[in-house]
Amino acid sequence: MENATINRREFLRGLGIAGAGVLAATSPWLSAFSEVKETAKERCRLGIIGPGSRGQFLMNFIATNPKAEIVAIADIYEPSINAALKIAPDAKVYRDYRQLLADKNVEAVVVATPLNTHYGIVMDAFDAGKHVYCEKTIGYTMEQCYNMYMRHLETGLLFFSGQQRLFDPRYIKAMDMVHKGTFGKVSAVEAYWNRNGDWRREVPSPDLERFINWRLYRESSRGLMSELGCHQLQVGTWALGKLPDRVMGHGGITFWKDGREVHDNVHCIYGYDTGETITYGSVISNKFYGLEEKIMGNLGTVEPENGKYFFEEIAPAPAFLQMLNKWENDLFEELPFAGTSWAPETANVNKGEFLLGERPKADGTSLLTEAFVEAVITGKQPERIAEEGYYASLLCLWGFEAIESGAILPFPEQYKIDYAPYGTKRQDIVS
Ligand SMILES: NC(=O)c1ccc[n+]([C@@H]2O[C@H](COP(=O)([O-])OP(=O)(O)OC[C@H]3O[C@@H](n4cnc5c(N)ncnc54)[C@H](O)[C@@H]3O)[C@@H](O)[C@H]2O)c1
Repeated sequence: MENATINRREFLRGLGIAGAGVLAATSPWLSAFSEVKETAKERCRLGIIGPGSRGQFLMNFIATNPKAEIVAIADIYEPSINAALKIAPDAKVYRDYRQLLADKNVEAVVVATPLNTHYGIVMDAFDAGKHVYCEKTIGYTMEQCYNMYMRHLETGLLFFSGQQRLFDPRYIKAMDMVHKGTFGKVSAVEAYWNRNGDWRREVPSPDLERFINWRLYRESSRGLMSELGCHQLQVGTWALGKLPDRVMGHGGITFWKDGREVHDNVHCIYGYDTGETITYGSVISNKFYGLEEKIMGNLGTVEPENGKYFFEEIAPAPAFLQMLNKWENDLFEELPFAGTSWAPETANVNKGEFLLGERPKADGTSLLTEAFVEAVITGKQPERIAEEGYYASLLCLWGFEAIESGAILPFPEQYKIDYAPYGTKRQDIVS
């Protein structure tokens, strides 16, 4: 797979970020790659639990990583097993994940099952002494997420989650600029993820509806908050470098009234005592604005998904446009009903600048899986990676609760783990 061949050194160089220290302060989890030489000849042995759609996507990267071997898979659905075996034909097949966890040959597991099953599987995996990569959102409730994170600390086993933006060059570069103050004081992050589609999958027989379309049912899903919001809320706190103090939200089933139980339209506002805001919205009956996280400072805006940034002050418009502007203003000034505030401003299109020379060929998923493989070999948990996954999950589940209750909810203090500012070493949190 082309994506899997991304060379880490080239990737880091391509970011054009001066000095490893700067990078370490903004994206400390990249420390996962600091041991590369040391591990050159070793391989790690992985088991994949739930090789469905996402699991197979991850397997494609892992299967082409010379440092990894997929030694086992576990699933309860034959079509998933058959598809996974095409990627890893030599993998041992288990129909019960507990048998995979008992397999001594498996050092670490990737958990890519539906949301409501993560908790039991991940806690069992830690009990079995396996390192864990769990897809986002890590838990179905905030309490589950907290227990999972704590179990990771107690066991000392690795804990990664599927927050691939942490390894996406566009986002890393954007955050480097944000944290350096390039865009001034950031007051707001506006995140949205819109689609026009029913979010359904074809079901081979009606009795499999809830199993295949688990995303649409409350027993197995937190809907758009857990499936999409989790990614974008992580970007919001990454940009602002701190956690919000309250959240309010609203959601409804406004268009896809087809028996689903989760909202097709959600919006949340996360507020800070210091005034900043993160908004998150998702609508799946209109795709015009697509997907973005707009990070808005007084000097400029960065849109990592789009791969561009825009300064507030741009070069003046060409002289003839300025002349037109003056004529328009003069004309409006002569009209009795219009003050100058009514005068149209000559549009001066701000086309922005690209964050990177060219659009990267991949999002961060290949590097995220590489980082996990590297960490399993070295046994070293990269800085802040578990914490980013934990808080991303917490934020989306907290927002979900705000939507459910209709109340303004304060930050759930009981689930606060020691939150280290960027640049703080992991050992300072753990000890
Ligand atoms: N990081 C991302 O961008 C991203 C993208 C898509 C999905 N995901 C996450 O990945 C996870 C899976 O999503 P998906 O779209 O691949 O779902 P899916 O339904 O395609 O795959 C889930 C797989 O888990 C299997 N499974 C269910 N219960 C199981 C059990 N008890 N034991 C073993 N296997 C079991 C199913 O048979 C299926 O093969 C979800 O948590 C989702 O949020 C993350």
